[in-house]
Amino acid sequence: MADAAIIDGKARAAELSASISVTTAALVDEKSIKPGLTVVIVGEDPASQVYVRNKKRTAEACGFNSMQHTLPAESSQDEILALIHLLNDDASVHGILVQLPLPDHLDERVITQAISPAKDVDGFHFQNIGMLTAGHVDEAFVPCTPAGCMLMIEDQLGKDLSGLNAVIIGRSNIVGKPMASLLLQANATVTICHSRTKDLPAVARSADILVAAVGRPKMVKGDWIKPGAVVIDVGINRIQVEVDGETKNRLVGDVDFDEAKEVAAAITPVPGGVGPMTIALLMLNTLRSAERTGG
Ligand code: GUN
Repeated sequence: MADAAIIDGKARAAELSASISVTTAALVDEKSIKPGLTVVIVGEDPASQVYVRNKKRTAEACGFNSMQHTLPAESSQDEILALIHLLNDDASVHGILVQLPLPDHLDERVITQAISPAKDVDGFHFQNIGMLTAGHVDEAFVPCTPAGCMLMIEDQLGKDLSGLNAVIIGRSNIVGKPMASLLLQANATVTICHSRTKDLPAVARSADILVAAVGRPKMVKGDWIKPGAVVIDVGINRIQVEVDGETKNRLVGDVDFDEAKEVAAAITPVPGGVGPMTIALLMLNTLRSAERTGG
């Protein structure tokens, strides 16, 4: 079988960002509304800082007002909630994102639920989760990573996934569960697997669409994949490899890419697959929020 098509998330995200820039320019010109995205980061997690920098760069490239609040790791819950309340009331802010994970002493649930559902561009508020789960996808803010995965799946297979088996490995609130809602809405037959699933490789092999979101480097092997499947690799794992006697850092996905590309019809690479799409979808959610305020 020929090698899989490599799904170029970076190019797809750039295309999406370019179209967001065009729409943004029109919104500024015609309604004097400039989309505003505010990112709150607490502490100094190095990976979070890289993500936040990328979000800021993309927001600026889209013509948004990009704001960032960097708070010390020891900030109290009340201080963070006070900031969120200020941002909820600030008309120039259309999207609020609190970068996760938060330091251990903070209650992630209380903080994410304090964000106004109308500005919840991460799609973590229970109101948005409820909308999505009830099938009102157009009214919800959908979490950015599964929304980006869904666009790439549609590019490969079209919008109607009737008759196709979708298997998601991972049951997180950020990826696995919302991904299941989106695939179900598109008429796929959906299975969510997790650490307690019996014979995971066999379940994975039944998938026409396989989404891996577990955070375990190269866990999904070539013989877990049905020939001709579309494979979406959400994992971003930092591993160390030996190259010519030197230890180097590498980013790898949850899928063993070299094995999987021999079997799949199409696969996302890591990096350059899901990651850039997540950021582009954050921009799309922020633009939609700004458009809604314009009536
Ligand atoms: N940390 C890792 N992924 C995400 C995400 O999608 N949103 C936020 N806020 N934090 C994250």
